[in-house]
Amino acid sequence: MLLIKHIDLLEKTIAEWQASGLSVGFVPTMGALHQGHLSLIEQALLENDRVVCSIFVNPTQFNNPKDLENYPNQIEEDFELLKQKGCHLIFTPFKENMYPNGASSICFELNDLDKQMEGARRPGHFDGVCTIVSKFFELIKPKNAYFGEKDFQQLAIIRELNKSQGFGINIIGCPIIRESDGLAMSSRNTLLNNEERSIAPNIY
Ligand code: PAF
Repeated sequence: MLLIKHIDLLEKTIAEWQASGLSVGFVPTMGALHQGHLSLIEQALLENDRVVCSIFVNPTQFNNPKDLENYPNQIEEDFELLKQKGCHLIFTPFKENMYPNGASSICFELNDLDKQMEGARRPGHFDGVCTIVSKFFELIKPKNAYFGEKDFQQLAIIRELNKSQGFGINIIGCPIIRESDGLAMSSRNTLLNNEERSIAPNIY
């Protein structure tokens, strides 16, 4: 498994794979991996010759600075899980390289999909998601990219982004993976206290 931090090495490695006719699948994450992420990796491994997973806590999609500060981090465990699964490349870029001119988002035209539900309550969140996902798509140029249906609005928006920007990538939505009591697996579940955790399955 390759662990790459620098953009030029990432581009070189992927260009070599693509020149050899190998298909590339891409799974973007912010780390703190759980079985939901690993199911995306499993599907990507079935459908592509090479699988790239990015781990990058993207500052521009956090409209609340406390949420960014508290976001769970378990990078060594993440590497181990990805290695066990057989992921080919982990990309963990530096913030300064992904945002050389400072952490700011591009404003995307998303056919109003970002104006409702979570988008209405988290101003700028989906522009931040689309900004980083576009940068990854441009660098990695995957054939297939995998997103969980848990973030259903995000999945719809990424499909719209793919269409409007003409990336030509197959956007693959993967089923929600749940805990035994029905709660959808999520990195942020570890932030719930006992009481919150006990009522969270009511959502399901
Ligand atoms: O779903 C996520 O974890 C993030 O929004 C993503 C797609 C990795 C972009 O930072």
